[in-house]
Amino acid sequence: MRARAALPEEIDALALLWHEGWRDAHEAILPEELKRERTLESFRKRMQAALEQVRVVGAPRAPVGFCIVKDDELYQLYVSQSARGTGVAAALLADAEQRLSRNGVTKAWLACAIGNRRAARFYEKCGWQFVGKMLNQLDTFSGVYSLEVWRYEKSLSCSSDSSSRP
Ligand SMILES: CC(C)(COP(=O)(O)OP(=O)(O)OC[C@H]1O[C@@H](n2cnc3c(N)ncnc32)[C@H](O)[C@@H]1OP(=O)(O)O)[C@@H](O)C(=O)NCCC(=O)NCCS
Repeated sequence: MRARAALPEEIDALALLWHEGWRDAHEAILPEELKRERTLESFRKRMQAALEQVRVVGAPRAPVGFCIVKDDELYQLYVSQSARGTGVAAALLADAEQRLSRNGVTKAWLACAIGNRRAARFYEKCGWQFVGKMLNQLDTFSGVYSLEVWRYEKSLSCSSDSSSRP
């Protein structure tokens, strides 16, 4: 199970995966006004804009999960319902940690919605530490939206290894 770069022809499938995963994880726990912003079209635009940073697992044109890093942040991690509990998420996370480390990041962070217990459990078993709550500034097409979230951090060892690049 290897992560690879996303393909332009996968944008629609990845946007759908993101939209469905976002609703699964957040429908019951996030405010209505934020839910209204997170339409399928909004995820498609964001996916298109981020494409160069997107890593996926799955056959070409059939990705089952993706991950995006941004600066020192593990920015997005989503796995389709059918691929949860299979190790896809762990493969994407390991790949993301390697990329962060190669970029010189020694301490990475991520935001997890308060109440997203499955994600929290997953990060904890992968060695991420809960450090407290923080106000996260989310980009939406109507402007920045401030949301209190759980913050996780992980210390990464420095790496200049390029052997696992695509
Ligand atoms: C978060 C996500 C990437 C994790 O991947 P995954 O394949 O589901 O992860 P795993 O199955 O390996 O680990 C999940 C753990 O949570 C546990 N879990 C499941 N439901 C749970 C719940 N409601 N409360 C607490 N723990 C739960 C599982 O048992 C498992 O722990 P275990 O291995 O000790 O038994 C995936 O669930 C996903 O894409 N979710 C929707 C999107 C999302 O929330 N993304 C993260 C945004 S921060």
